[in-house]
Amino acid sequence: MTILHIDSSITGDQSASRTITRSIVEQLTDSDVIYRDLVSEPLPHLTLDAFADSSVLDEFLAADTVVIGAPMYNFTLPTQLKAWLDRILVAGKTFRYTENGPEGLAGGKRVIVALARGGFYDAGSPAASLEHLETYLRGVFNFIGIEPEFVAADGLAVGPEQRESSVRQALGETLRLAA
Ligand SMILES: Cc1cc2nc3c(=O)[nH]c(=O)nc-3n(C[C@H](O)[C@H](O)[C@H](O)COP(=O)(O)O)c2cc1C
Repeated sequence: MTILHIDSSITGDQSASRTITRSIVEQLTDSDVIYRDLVSEPLPHLTLDAFADSSVLDEFLAADTVVIGAPMYNFTLPTQLKAWLDRILVAGKTFRYTENGPEGLAGGKRVIVALARGGFYDAGSPAASLEHLETYLRGVFNFIGIEPEFVAADGLAVGPEQRESSVRQALGETLRLAA
């Protein structure tokens, strides 16, 4: 089994999402792990020429499980992670358009996303309409035929106690992922 482990937080050792993805990968033992740090080795913005190089897509397609660290920046995903997704959503490879609408072609893969958000965005909360991270990632992976799993640490900017308890709770949730 091959795990593709992806991080996209700019905060290095202080990063909650990096702490959580590391824990998830540790739970999924007996696997080969390929690590891609989108901050220390960023992918350039998408260009037409970039489609000639399918190495990022091939790495994704070859993985059985993909673990993604996704911090919320300005209500959505880091641009580093968007540049990676721009290489994953490729017509004819991970989706296609049919007479009956779009069809995902990347099913059969497990995708686990570690979300880290400074605030709270639960349905009905004042900021719910600004949540464009989990909703976006769910939509994108659904589009290519995958139902992603999420582990979330929320309220990380509220204060140190909230941060510690949210990260602890998320790390506890990672234990069930290996089951
Ligand atoms: C540049 C930047 C933008 C941010 N924008 C938001 C935001 O729009 N909403 C939010 O809830 N938190 C926001 N935050 C807080 C982060 O989501 C929070 O610090 C989280 O811990 C980031 O994940 P990380 O610890 O893995 O870096 C922002 C943080 C940074 C550094």
